[in-house]
Amino acid sequence: MVLKMTLVVVLFSSILAAVAYGGNFNQDFDITWGDGRAMILNNGNLLTLSLDEASGSGFQSKNEYLFGKIDMQIKLVPGNSAGTVTAYYFSSKGSRWDEIDFEFLGNLSGDPYIVHTNVYTQGKGDREEQFYLWFDPTADFHTYSILWNPQRVVFYVDKIPIREFKNMESNGIHFPKDQSMKIHSSLWNADDWATRGGLVKTDWTKAPFTASYRNFNASEACIWASGNSSCGPLGSSSPKSRPKNWLNENLDSTDQKRLKWVQKNYRIYNYCSDKKRFPQGLPQECANTT
Ligand SMILES: *[C@@H]1O[C@H](CO)[C@@H](O)[C@H](O)[C@H]1NC(C)=O
Repeated sequence: MVLKMTLVVVLFSSILAAVAYGGNFNQDFDITWGDGRAMILNNGNLLTLSLDEASGSGFQSKNEYLFGKIDMQIKLVPGNSAGTVTAYYFSSKGSRWDEIDFEFLGNLSGDPYIVHTNVYTQGKGDREEQFYLWFDPTADFHTYSILWNPQRVVFYVDKIPIREFKNMESNGIHFPKDQSMKIHSSLWNADDWATRGGLVKTDWTKAPFTASYRNFNASEACIWASGNSSCGPLGSSSPKSRPKNWLNENLDSTDQKRLKWVQKNYRIYNYCSDKKRFPQGLPQECANTT
């Protein structure tokens, strides 16, 4: 009896939590293109994008955000996905826009996806870092998160930090902190460059290609509307208690170790080590990174 009650309570509170934090694609996003190829299913709990020879598809958030710790679970295009790109990114508007990018470059069956990341500040990017993953991202959903606060932008995969872009404004480097951003995602054909630099073409006999999304969570974020910012619960700044205060969160020593592990074992490209690309010298921010 007691057990049963506990189960009911647990079930009930997880339903509440799903309502409060699970996000609902109908409430949080608009489908922006693709003529029926993007679909919101299961009462707003699942979103799918698809791509065929005629078109890809995409969606964007209704809200604009200025800082937050935001999760999305994505299951990438399975099988032969070479040539396809699933982009998931935060972007502001205008010619001096800021942008934080995850792009997933598909591959032949059994060959690894590349996770391509970039950070644009005031319209300038060229800050690519690329990674392989330590799992097959098409077999199941995995959580891709951005921590974005005034001190840093951190990219996470399943809560493991893979990249950190620190605020280095004191060294004259722009940081994205003045422009609110919408969240965008799209599935498109990039077989002119994506897989091994465009050598492998998209196999349209395998179309439509589909990527799936669930459990969007922006409960810890600031929503920006008509000049006002309203932020979700800030958590605690005391390191022992959870959740952490994401508005001034930094990487603790465990996170630092994990970041190093990813960079050592899974990073396959870092613009900061590409001396050939920058013959006049590496970008200034590279002096402070590893
Ligand atoms: C695809 O697989 C090949 C062979 O393992 C690898 O070199 C490449 O980095 C992978 N990813 C892409 C997007 O080409």
